[in-house]
Amino acid sequence: MCELQIFLIMSVIILGIESSCDDTSAAILRDGELLSNVTAGQAVHEMYGGVVPELASRAHQQNIIPVVDAALKKAGVERNDISAVAFTRGPGLMGSLLVGTSFAKGFALGLDIPMIDVNHLQAHVLAHFVREPGVEPHLPEFPFLCLLVSGGNSQIILVKSYKEMQVLGQTIDDAAGEAFDKCAKVMGLPYPGGPYIDKYAKMGNPKAFAFAKPHIKGFDYSFSGLKTSFLYTLRDAQKEDPNFVQNHLYDLCASLQKTVIDILMDKVHKAMKETGVKHLAVAGGVSANSGLREAFEDYGRRHRVEVYIPKFSFTTDNAAMVAITGYYKYLDNDFCAVDLAPYARVSI
Ligand code: KG4
Repeated sequence: MCELQIFLIMSVIILGIESSCDDTSAAILRDGELLSNVTAGQAVHEMYGGVVPELASRAHQQNIIPVVDAALKKAGVERNDISAVAFTRGPGLMGSLLVGTSFAKGFALGLDIPMIDVNHLQAHVLAHFVREPGVEPHLPEFPFLCLLVSGGNSQIILVKSYKEMQVLGQTIDDAAGEAFDKCAKVMGLPYPGGPYIDKYAKMGNPKAFAFAKPHIKGFDYSFSGLKTSFLYTLRDAQKEDPNFVQNHLYDLCASLQKTVIDILMDKVHKAMKETGVKHLAVAGGVSANSGLREAFEDYGRRHRVEVYIPKFSFTTDNAAMVAITGYYKYLDNDFCAVDLAPYARVSI
């Protein structure tokens, strides 16, 4: 047997599939190292100002085969080399999850390989463990705290191991990304508004406007009061100046972003202090926000804790994070049955 054959036999190659919302993504991971990560977004939702579930699942159906095909080609891996298929089981939109789950079932049955179900929230956290060829790894040490902030979640998680994660606090209403997107919509910005707010905030004064901050006990978050406060500020000001948003767009974005970051960091600090943990990570779509990334770096410097900020391509939904979660489950022989159903709602 030649050296290459031995290498292929010993390697664990995972195909990861992500289809929980409006991104169809496939990734190939060899022994924890990323070979490819291909994502197709869905522009169809832009004109509706939010994700339309039925359109999302139809787009997943169109995208899934070309995306998997592209991921295999980019990785230089043949289907028969794959050790297992890891897929997002939930939480997410049921129609979208069904496409990824059904594809994974067909693929696994066809190749007679095991399937691994992945919790989407755990995958966001474990995205920090994806290693890339030629890139110096900066992997979190257990235990660490992870702020998971996306369009659907705002949670502070105590991560004890690859498998053991405890939610210390979470939003009791809107998620941070939802607050960004809803406030952006009120200002007439396209969906999703988070990246636009980030862009315009760089040119504005974060102290120009003061918006309401919640007073919630423990580590939980709330963003609905901020959203209402933002809406009322605009409504009142527009009575005097109908062009108020256009005239103050940059200051509004900077002040809103600062308020969201202050709310997030306040509870992060409280959780770090009370747990005594010395490693801190951020994950999820909102972790792409430049102000939040700076706030984390600044926190690390001031409090002498090690901070982990994901690469931009691992912030929003992607299959690399599903593949790495699947990889650790594979090492534990933690496989799922082929008749398993996806779930729309589930905690970490
Ligand atoms: O994790 P994700 O891709 O999807 C789920 O929620 O499942 O997160 C999407 C969220 C959206 O609310 C979007 O506005 C927000 O992440 N987002 C940002 C930025 N980039 C994406 N929010 C603020 N600043 C950004 N740069």
